[in-house]
Amino acid sequence: MISATLFIILASLGGSLAQCPDYSTYSQQVHPPLSAGKYNLSSMRPASGCRTFVLPEVDHLIRSYKSKISDPDLYRLFQNSFPNTLDTAIKWKGTAQGSDEELTFVITGDIDAMWLRDSANQMQSYLSLLKPSANSSSLASLYRGVINLQSRYVLTDPFCNSFQAPAESGIPPATNGAATNDNVTPPYSSTSVFECKYELDSLAAFLEVSTNYYTATKDTAFFGKYQWLQAVRTVLQTATSMQIGTYADNGTVNTSPYTFQRLTTAGTETLSNGGIGNPVSPGTGLVRSAFRPSDDAAIYQLFIPANMMFSRYLNSTATIVRSLGTDDALASQLSALSTSIRSGIEKYGIITTASGTQIYAYEIDGFASVNVMDDANIPSLLAAPVYGYLDASDPIYQNTRKLVLSTSNPYWMHGPAISAVGGPHEGPGYAWPMASIVRILTSSDDAEITAELKQLVSSTSGLGLIHESINTFNSGDWTRQWYVDFCSRRVDLAID
Ligand SMILES: *[C@@H]1O[C@H](CO)[C@@H](O)[C@H](O)[C@H]1NC(C)=O
Ligand SMILES: *[C@@H]1O[C@H](CO)[C@@H](O)[C@H](O)[C@H]1NC(C)=O
Ligand SMILES: *[C@@H]1O[C@H](CO)[C@@H](O)[C@H](O)[C@H]1NC(C)=O
Ligand SMILES: *[C@@H]1O[C@H](CO)[C@@H](O)[C@H](O)[C@H]1NC(C)=O
Repeated sequence: MISATLFIILASLGGSLAQCPDYSTYSQQVHPPLSAGKYNLSSMRPASGCRTFVLPEVDHLIRSYKSKISDPDLYRLFQNSFPNTLDTAIKWKGTAQGSDEELTFVITGDIDAMWLRDSANQMQSYLSLLKPSANSSSLASLYRGVINLQSRYVLTDPFCNSFQAPAESGIPPATNGAATNDNVTPPYSSTSVFECKYELDSLAAFLEVSTNYYTATKDTAFFGKYQWLQAVRTVLQTATSMQIGTYADNGTVNTSPYTFQRLTTAGTETLSNGGIGNPVSPGTGLVRSAFRPSDDAAIYQLFIPANMMFSRYLNSTATIVRSLGTDDALASQLSALSTSIRSGIEKYGIITTASGTQIYAYEIDGFASVNVMDDANIPSLLAAPVYGYLDASDPIYQNTRKLVLSTSNPYWMHGPAISAVGGPHEGPGYAWPMASIVRILTSSDDAEITAELKQLVSSTSGLGLIHESINTFNSGDWTRQWYVDFCSRRVDLAID
């Protein structure tokens, strides 16, 4: 047994510098030299002059892991995927007009737009390397740029999930054909917004990336400098507005602060009841989410994983606000909301199955309806320890984990090529490698971790990148060769 420390990642895709091949094409072709293991995995890093951001410490770390990861295919997967956000997705970095405020525009996958959730998770890949630095070539500067740009997005369009490049970049707005006929309230400007699906986890992601930067750098001064505090107030106001139920006590239908309708043939791409979604009862203390982190519509809007993640990061954000010392009332409000959401989850979000087991529900409506399932996208129930809501040893989490990794989960996908949680976004039959990674991150069982690593390494179709989803019966049939969304974390494990 050789002890190894691995970074597990989901790859991301990116734009290309002038003269550089389009990565979307490049990443579908096999490039030598191939890895020396059983699976002959492609080299997939862009040539050094074609990488969108270079951090010497990342390259150093990749080299240092060569001797630690003995399996050549697994090392190749790591080599390709770990630097992928830096290699391909830092589309623009600069400063705000007439200011020293740093801005970083991080694109998602094959789309030239920045998602709040995805960019927070993309930065999380490098969290273990983050340390204080004023240098504009540093990882700390990249983080500050993401936090500043997210603050701007949250302030202008707090209900939206995905955004256009900032005007300062000179990058023209990307076209979102799917959104052309969207009918959304509140209305938004198409020059700043790429898509406007209200997802509670987008707001939680802004608090998460802020917390991650603060925890690693203790750079309190940064949070007091620009619009961050104002953006946190907007997050609080937006989330609180979405605690409203569908009906007032006298029976009138409340005006929903957010509505969304899309011209589509997919049931998961629009909201029922004229854009407000299925009815929700007030009084649980939970915050509604119209969409899930998959960007699919919630069935019941009291979506438990996003509430878990939001509660956890409200609490840590209160610590940052307290350290600033300029708005202790806000800090108290954040803490209070964190606590009341946690109480709501523990009171209403835990259900007992027919066999008498207590588990967390995926979604509830506050009446009596519950949706028992899990989806691969993060926040998921499976990932609750990854985003720090609870410890993996929590007995109700363990019950939930067992259920979502079994055929009792309507979105558990299994077959000879790969078995993992999937979701309605790519539909039945397609397992998501991201869920295998989360399974690794929430396990202390070497046998389970090794089995998951084996299926990750064996299911890339020779490309050596982490796909979005894979046909459980045919690893040659996958979606999005270089899937973004997250996630790197150190996993100490022993491999043969
Ligand atoms: C890897 O390459 C070797 C040598 O060319 C070949 O025998 C083997 O079948 C290949 N394996 C895969 C999974 O393509
Ligand atoms: C900033 O960081 C870059 C990359 O690490 C380094 O090459 C450069 O010398 C640094 N500049 C200063 C002023 O420290
Ligand atoms: C019903 O209650 C709501 C919320 O309190 C209020 O805004 C509305 O005016 C009331 N409508 C009627 C008809 O009483
Ligand atoms: C908030 O964080 C504190 C300190 O880490 C912890 O004691 C408390 O339980 C947390 N509260 C919630 C609601 O997560």
